[in-house]
Amino acid sequence: MAIVVSMINMKGGVGKSTLTFNLAWRSAWRENLRVLAVDLDPQANLSQYFLGAQKYMDMLESGAHSIVDVFEQFSSPTKTSGSPSLLEPETAVQVLNEWDDGSLLHLVPSRLELSWTLKNPTEKAQLLPKFLADIKDAYDLILIDCAPTESILTLAAYRSSRYVFVPVRPEFLATIGLPLLARSLNEFRIMHSDQDLEMAGIIFNGLRRSNTPPEQEKSMKDVRSLATEHCWPVLDSVAHHSDSYATGSRERTPIFQTSYARDYVVHEFHKVANEFLEKVQLK
Ligand SMILES: Nc1ncnc2c1ncn2[C@@H]1O[C@H](COP(=O)(O)OP(=O)(O)O)[C@@H](O)[C@H]1O
Ligand SMILES: [Mg+2]
Repeated sequence: MAIVVSMINMKGGVGKSTLTFNLAWRSAWRENLRVLAVDLDPQANLSQYFLGAQKYMDMLESGAHSIVDVFEQFSSPTKTSGSPSLLEPETAVQVLNEWDDGSLLHLVPSRLELSWTLKNPTEKAQLLPKFLADIKDAYDLILIDCAPTESILTLAAYRSSRYVFVPVRPEFLATIGLPLLARSLNEFRIMHSDQDLEMAGIIFNGLRRSNTPPEQEKSMKDVRSLATEHCWPVLDSVAHHSDSYATGSRERTPIFQTSYARDYVVHEFHKVANEFLEKVQLK
């Protein structure tokens, strides 16, 4: 049964979607795992990284199922009478790639309408773990890319996950979301003592490779001391700043396939991915 990991930080723009995209690709392609990526952000960046702009627009127009249908399966205005018809879980999953050895990469895409779920949240958090429970056996790793605000979607992610993994961009105010995250995790654990939800670790993303500015150094120090306070592991490997991450997302390629990505950037990402897989017990 799959290990479910939520990529989370209450701050936006820290690399949650970029790391989810690259870790998913690498885990499937290079580690031969069966991987499902779940886009749980109404902004749908992860879906756009995986599908590219054109295919993503086509998907929106075709009305293909998405994460919205997972949360809204009971609430469509056309389903107000009769017995509830459940979503067939497989119909919300898109195949991105499948290899001969059985490893695979699938996606549950998102769309802006997911923000509708935030307006009518009653009891919907339970629908995500239920949806995943039905398909969990088909995967080794399920990565959930979370939105940066705390909401019913965060609760749904926690409820589905064995681990949370936290990308942090070392910059001014980097620590701002972390106390909130600590509080929300603690609250969750008190409310759901039946479930094991662990912090897999913090990863620094976007650090300058050379001439590290003093504010980045200071920020890293602050984050480390907060992490110690909460007994959160911090990964030894770091994903430094590289324009190839943006290029890769634009070209729909993981960093190890991105044109002109430097060897040391690729090598460094492999180390990040290895450490990530160790932390979530897949290596
Ligand atoms: N290590 C990195 N080096 C350079 N740019 C990065 C790196 N990680 C992320 N980015 C860029 O930062 C922006 C925000 O990243 P994203 O993964 O979408 O953040 P989040 O999902 O946390 O909001 C994107 O434009 C992405 O290409
Ligand atoms: Mg994102």
